[in-house]
Amino acid sequence: MVAPIENKDGLVIEAAGLTKVFKDFWGRPKARAVNGIDLNIRRGQVFGLLGPNGSGKSTTVKMILGLLYPTRGTLKVLGESPQDVAIKRRIGYLPEESYLYRYLTAAETLDFFGSLFGLVPAERRQRTDQLLDMVGLANSRNRPVGEFSKGMQRRIGMGQALINDPDLVILDEPTSGLDPIGCREVKDVIRLIASRGKTVVLCSHLLSDVEDVCDEVAVLYGGKIRVEGPLKEILAVHDRTRIEGPRLDPAVVEDVLALLRSRVPGAEVRVDHPRMTLENFFLDVVRRAKEASVETAGAQAGGQIAGYLRGQDNDQVAATAAVLAALNRDAVPAASGSAADAKAEGDQGAPVPAVVDTTKLAGLTGVPAQMAPATAADVADSTAAAAPKVTDAEASKRLAELLGGEGAGDKGKKKENK
Ligand SMILES: Nc1ncnc2c1ncn2[C@@H]1O[C@H](COP(=O)(O)OP(=O)(O)OP(=O)(O)O)[C@@H](O)[C@H]1O
Ligand SMILES: [Mg+2]
Repeated sequence: MVAPIENKDGLVIEAAGLTKVFKDFWGRPKARAVNGIDLNIRRGQVFGLLGPNGSGKSTTVKMILGLLYPTRGTLKVLGESPQDVAIKRRIGYLPEESYLYRYLTAAETLDFFGSLFGLVPAERRQRTDQLLDMVGLANSRNRPVGEFSKGMQRRIGMGQALINDPDLVILDEPTSGLDPIGCREVKDVIRLIASRGKTVVLCSHLLSDVEDVCDEVAVLYGGKIRVEGPLKEILAVHDRTRIEGPRLDPAVVEDVLALLRSRVPGAEVRVDHPRMTLENFFLDVVRRAKEASVETAGAQAGGQIAGYLRGQDNDQVAATAAVLAALNRDAVPAASGSAADAKAEGDQGAPVPAVVDTTKLAGLTGVPAQMAPATAADVADSTAAAAPKVTDAEASKRLAELLGGEGAGDKGKKKENK
């Protein structure tokens, strides 16, 4: 049976009087980060949390994720407490800063997060391939993420947030550092996953991005919600009227203006041409450069949206893995082949297969090395294998450590964060 993804009223997030007060070493209140907010976020909604620096957005998000404990108030996520480990498995999170293991490659990073969510190796491999393609990192799959630029880190972070095909996706500044093409791709992914009935909570300072994708927003200031509502309603200017049509002859414009002046004396009327957005203009310039085959050494545009996110049946995983295994039997490096070898091969322009260093990952996940696929044949065999033996509680603890949870400490962060 498919788990319900909301309460009986269709609410995925319900918060009432939610408050977080950070205390100092002696337990004295230090910062009232969130101050009695109410939130009702529904299934399939893209909800924007806006507000200036320090207004409480990330703190709210961390409480929704169960990474921080509220000081007061009630909070239900997917109908349960956010501390419920089964609920955490159904949430995807892109943190404000990427807490990535610098020495893991892009493919290993996604495989690692996939194993924390208990995905079987074949599924991890298939999703990793689809996600790397989707976020435009297919050619960098065997490079350590510690070498990645900020935009590339956001891209791999986006993949990490979606590896578990979550019902609720929380994205903290997903487009920061991305080029306009990457921004558009992220926005397309957000709209697509919402159209599949998933819920997205987005924190961003890039208001034009928020305007493009959000159905509803809340504006926080000083830990309180100042305005909340559907974007269409809160942005509508009800005391003005706009009529748009084809390009008009100047004589026709004069006639229309004369009519308006006679009907609405003293009306202030403006006539101009609509402007395209700078984003659309930029994307058009890049598209034309691509059509003219202008070379670039920069990031690639992403591929198509991952099949499993488009709702393609996960039952195809086994069959697809078997076919891939047969096709790749000779092409995939042996278990002993290192990521560096594969990188060297990739640098020569050949298609780059994803290489996952199983020993390295075993150390991080606690899953025995042989459980992760090393060769194409292993991929085929592993479709029948049980999910890795990481308990929900252990996986949840590791995720919390990586995503900056309360009590996780700064040690790992300093060491691993770029
Ligand atoms: N771990 C912490 N300990 C103490 N105070 C904190 C902690 N985390 C956040 N705060 C404080 O809580 C307030 C809200 O911070 P928060 O990170 O939620 O803001 P934000 O809206 O996400 O800001 P930004 O736009 O800069 O990301 C700030 O005053 C901040 O200093
Ligand atoms: Mg923040």
